[in-house]
Amino acid sequence: LDIIHIAVEMAPIAKVGGLGDVVTSLARAVQESGHNTEIILPKYDCLNYKYIQDLQEVQAFHFGGSKVRVWNGKVEGLTVHFLEPENGCNEQPFPVHRMFWAGCIYGRRDDGARFGFFCHSALEFLRQSGKHVDIIHCHDWSSAPVAWLFNEGYRLNNMHDSRIVFSIHNLEFGAPLIGRAMANAHMATTVSPTYAAEVAGNGVIAPHLHKFHGIRNGIDPEIWDPYTDPFIPVAYTTESVTEGKRAAKEELRRRLGLRQDDRPMLGIITRLTAQKGIALIKHGIYRTLERGGQVVLLGSAPDPRVQNEFVNLSNQLNQSHGDMARLCLSYDEPLSHLIYAGSDFILIPSIFEPCGLTQLTAMRYGAIPVVRKTGGLNDTVFDVDHDKERARAQGLAVNGFSFEAPDAAGLDYALNRAISAWYEARDWFQDLCKQVMQQDWTWNRPALDYIELYYGAKKKPSTPSK
Ligand code: ADP
Ligand code: GLC
Repeated sequence: LDIIHIAVEMAPIAKVGGLGDVVTSLARAVQESGHNTEIILPKYDCLNYKYIQDLQEVQAFHFGGSKVRVWNGKVEGLTVHFLEPENGCNEQPFPVHRMFWAGCIYGRRDDGARFGFFCHSALEFLRQSGKHVDIIHCHDWSSAPVAWLFNEGYRLNNMHDSRIVFSIHNLEFGAPLIGRAMANAHMATTVSPTYAAEVAGNGVIAPHLHKFHGIRNGIDPEIWDPYTDPFIPVAYTTESVTEGKRAAKEELRRRLGLRQDDRPMLGIITRLTAQKGIALIKHGIYRTLERGGQVVLLGSAPDPRVQNEFVNLSNQLNQSHGDMARLCLSYDEPLSHLIYAGSDFILIPSIFEPCGLTQLTAMRYGAIPVVRKTGGLNDTVFDVDHDKERARAQGLAVNGFSFEAPDAAGLDYALNRAISAWYEARDWFQDLCKQVMQQDWTWNRPALDYIELYYGAKKKPSTPSK
C-alpha cells in the first residue's frame, strides 16, 4: 500500500505530545511491514532541524493566493514532504511573515486557519504531484479538514482510489471538526479500545460507530531502548535491569541535586493540563514524600496560570524538601529518558487518557506504572492485585498498580501499595520490573491492525458512508 500521513506533529522534529510520537512510530512500523509510508508536514521555523537528513527544496506550486514551497527530507528513515506557504498571517497580536514562522506549533489564535490551509495545500500537492496514494491518514482536529476537502474536490485523477482514514487522539479538542471528519472518512479510529468505548455515546462519534475502531498505540522500540539509549549512563537489558536502573537513579539524583540513599523514586512526565489530573499529581508528590520516597516531575503547562502554580510549588518544595523532590518545568526530551530509566514508578493519574504513551515507555525501562484506570491506561496496565484474570485473558502478566476513583483516596490506594511493595518485598518488586520490561508494547501487533483497517478502507466505495 501507498500511505500518506497528513499531520501537524511528528517526533522528534515537531513534537508537542503523543500525537507526534504516534505519527512517526506508526508510520515506521507500517513501513517495516513492507508498505510505502510518507508524511506531509508544515515546514515550521521551529522544526528540530538536526534530525532531518537531506533536506532540500524540490518544487513549488501556487495555491489559494500563495506560493507553496515543497521541501523533502528524511526523518527516522521516513520520507517527509514539508510544505511552506509563503503567505503570512496578519492576525494581531502575532503578525508573522509566513504562516508557519511563528516559533511554535500550536498556540496562535489563527491555528485553525493555518492548519486548514495546510490540509488543503497538502491535497493540492498530492494532486499536482500525480503520486499514487491508497490511504490518506489524517489526525485529530488539526488535519481533520483533509477528510471533507478530499470528498469535495479530490476524489479524481491520481486520487480516484485513495481512501481517507481519520484517527482521533483526543476528542477534547475541536469536536465539531472531528465530527465532520468522522462523517467524511472511509474509516476512523481512536487510540485504544477502552477510549473507543468511553466516547462511543458522544454525539460526534455515535452516528459513525460502523466505521469506528479502537486500536491501542505502541512505542518505537528503537527510539525507546535502555540498551542503546544515549541519554542514560549504563545500558541495560532485562538481565541487568537492577544495575542499570541503579546507575540511572544515581545520575538523575546527581544531576538534580537529590539525596543519594536507599529510597524509592517516583517519576512524572507529562503535559500539565486538567486531563492529566493536576490535583492528583500534587497529591501524589506529597504522599510519596510522606512515605520517604523521592519525586522528580518533568512537565510543562500550556496555560501560564498552571505553569505559575507549579513554579510556586517547585519553590515551596525546594525549601521544604530540597534534596527529596525536584520539579523540572520544561520540555526536555533527554531528561525524560533519564527519568524513565532512573524511576521505580511512573505516576499517571489522568482524569481521562485516550491511550497514553508514558506508561508504555516506563515499562520498557522497567519503571512500574501507577495509573488511574481510564482509556488506554486501562488497556495496558493490569493491577498486580486485581487484574490477574484480565491480564491472563490477553496472554499477559500483571504489570502495575491502578485505581478508579479520581480522588486522593483512590490514588492513595494504588500508590501506597506500590511504595509498600518497594520497601517490604524488594525481590518481588525487582522481578516485577523484569516482567514488565519483557512485555511487548511496541507497534508489532497494532500496526497489523492498522494495515488490516487500511485494506478494509480500500474496499469501501469512493464516496464514504456517513
Ligand atoms: P499526551 O499526548 O496526552 O501529552 P502521551 O502519554 O500520549 O500524552 O504522550 C506524551 C509524550 O510526550 C511522551 O512521549 C512523553 O515522554 C512526552 N513528554 C510529555 N511531557 C514532556 C516533557 N515535559 N519533556 C519531555 N517529554 C515529555
Ligand atoms: C493524545 C492523548 C494521549 C495519546 C496521544 C497519542 O495526546 O492525550 O492519550 O496517547 O494523543 O495518540
